[in-house]
Amino acid sequence: MTRILTAAALGLTMLAPAAQAGPATFEQVKIDAGAALYEAECRRCHAPDSDHESYGPPLNNIVGRAAGIVEDYDYSIALEASGIVWTPAALRAWMEDNDGFMPGTKMRHVGIEDRTVQDFIIAYLTSISDVEMNQSLDK
Ligand code: HEC
Repeated sequence: MTRILTAAALGLTMLAPAAQAGPATFEQVKIDAGAALYEAECRRCHAPDSDHESYGPPLNNIVGRAAGIVEDYDYSIALEASGIVWTPAALRAWMEDNDGFMPGTKMRHVGIEDRTVQDFIIAYLTSISDVEMNQSLDK
């Protein structure tokens, strides 16, 4: 019996590398966690696309996009005139302290300071963005 269990355990150990999360799976886990966090922290104000009613601007394609450019959205002057691009670093600063980062914005303070939470939300936002297209637009 012990021998069979040991053999089974060895078998599992040998199988493990194949079942281990590769980089693609790891990224997917981050995206899924980010989607759940987005749902909890951002979705009530931000639709993920422009087909839905949204109090804040829709955030599809946000990563690499210039700030304040969704047509027909009534941005604050501060955001519209900011001239920034939503890089991951800018999104981090924004989630951490949006009204400190950009005084005059009309987005209420969210204060997400946990870097891991920020990472997950950025992974999700990246998954709904065409980053390459946005970056080439900025040049
Ligand atoms: C209470 C509502 C509310 C919540 C919650 C909220 N936002 Fe916002 N967000 C807004 C509003 C309103 C604006 C427009 C701000 C302005 O014009 O100054 C905005 C603007 C933004 C912008 C700039 C978009 C652009 O087109 O330039 C980003 C990026 C953003 N929010 C990200 C987030 C993220 C990420 C979360 C969740 C962590 C979040 N927001 C949570 C209301 C909200």
